[in-house]
Amino acid sequence: MDHRDEINSILTGASGWTRAEILGLVDEGRGTLDPRIYTDERLYQLELERIFGRAWIFVAHEAQIQKPGDFFATYIGEDPVLVVRQKDASIRVFLNQCRHRGMKLCRADAGNARSFTCSYHGWAYNTAGDLVSVPFESDAYFNEIDKKQWGPVQTARVEVYKGLIFATWDHNAPSLDAYLGEAKFYMDAFLDRMDGGTEVIGGVTKWVIGCNWKFAAEQFCSDMYHAPVSHISPTIAALPDGIPAEFAKWPDKGIQFRATAGGHGTGFFSGPEKFIPVEEREDRLLLGLIGPQAGKYYARESREACRGRLGDVRADRINGAHMTIFPSLSFLPGVQTLRAWHPRGPNEIEVWALTVVDKNAPPEVKEEYRLGVMRTFSVGGMLEQDDGENWVMIQKGLRGFKSRQAHFNSGMGKGHAKADDPDWPGVIGNVYGEEAARGFYAHWGKMIATDDWASLYPAEVKTKAAE
Ligand code: FES
Ligand SMILES: [Fe+2]
Repeated sequence: MDHRDEINSILTGASGWTRAEILGLVDEGRGTLDPRIYTDERLYQLELERIFGRAWIFVAHEAQIQKPGDFFATYIGEDPVLVVRQKDASIRVFLNQCRHRGMKLCRADAGNARSFTCSYHGWAYNTAGDLVSVPFESDAYFNEIDKKQWGPVQTARVEVYKGLIFATWDHNAPSLDAYLGEAKFYMDAFLDRMDGGTEVIGGVTKWVIGCNWKFAAEQFCSDMYHAPVSHISPTIAALPDGIPAEFAKWPDKGIQFRATAGGHGTGFFSGPEKFIPVEEREDRLLLGLIGPQAGKYYARESREACRGRLGDVRADRINGAHMTIFPSLSFLPGVQTLRAWHPRGPNEIEVWALTVVDKNAPPEVKEEYRLGVMRTFSVGGMLEQDDGENWVMIQKGLRGFKSRQAHFNSGMGKGHAKADDPDWPGVIGNVYGEEAARGFYAHWGKMIATDDWASLYPAEVKTKAAE
């Protein structure tokens, strides 16, 4: 059996899906999606194993675990993990599961610990994840247990990009740097605008909605098309006082980025004139969404600092942006919400949202962001509810039979994107397009269908990422 046959038999045996069937669910040539990708329980199990079990997954911001012993409890897919700052300042990420009978070994959401003691029978682990004590060790185990063998399962690797901590279970995964590739160019306009980088303000907002995780991740990856329609009420009908009516007209052009490999994507409007009238130097989108301090800060200090660090193109031409790092990390640069879409079966997600701001922003700007993000993109946020309602209604419809038979159209802008733009790395199309969605779903299919990282990230992409 060669390597390919082996994967084919794993797919067919465990899931009933063959490699060819999985690759056929997402037909990039025709621009179609098979609706079963959002509902099928067997595909979902493959996602947990072959995507969340192998990809680099965002687990925390460094600001959440600053001191030795600081920990944050989160998930990689459905696997509970602890992210723990070590005594030597390194970071470990390991399964939040006791090796005796599988109880969560830490039940707190976050904090500082010297050790983690399981609340079921009392096995205790140090912050590195070594089993250090078991109750009644001599009477119950006759001192025969080899504690070195019974620490929680550790992730294979942990790496940080500009404050964001990622972990992977796969020893063969490419470096985080190569995994992010061209997407780093765009991430920097969110994470590296100023000296000092970013920090998290407030806590983590968590809520559950009834939709497949890919609806959320794909929208932040690729979908500006919904904004002038779905968000008409908060951004147009309910414009704050003092915002001119012409603001209600959305621009018709902008940039969409599809990673050459890797499934990442972003989109934004690319002219400053609508958002930042030169004579006023206020970002009107942010002024409307977040408030006057943020509108001025983003158009002035933050933008000039960004110009100095990253140049004119990113300082002036990234406005109103959305972004997804494959598979499940998304953010809105400018609005400053960042979230993980944790899958909970094919039909549900937990959204975990953070507000991330420039560390050196003035306190009044940070406070306005704290309140503004709650008002717009948070559990009760005006714009968040527009998005969530769409995704939940789609998912409810997919409970039918006929509703899962006809393919969806993902062909917007097909054949009109180019890979040689002098200013923008990656494959570039218009902001109203689905090039990045096609990249997201194509990568999804390839990750499930192949074990071979080299074919997912061909050599020329690695070279580009290293530039
Ligand atoms: S399950 Fe943790 S000590 Fe028994
Ligand atoms: Fe939206």
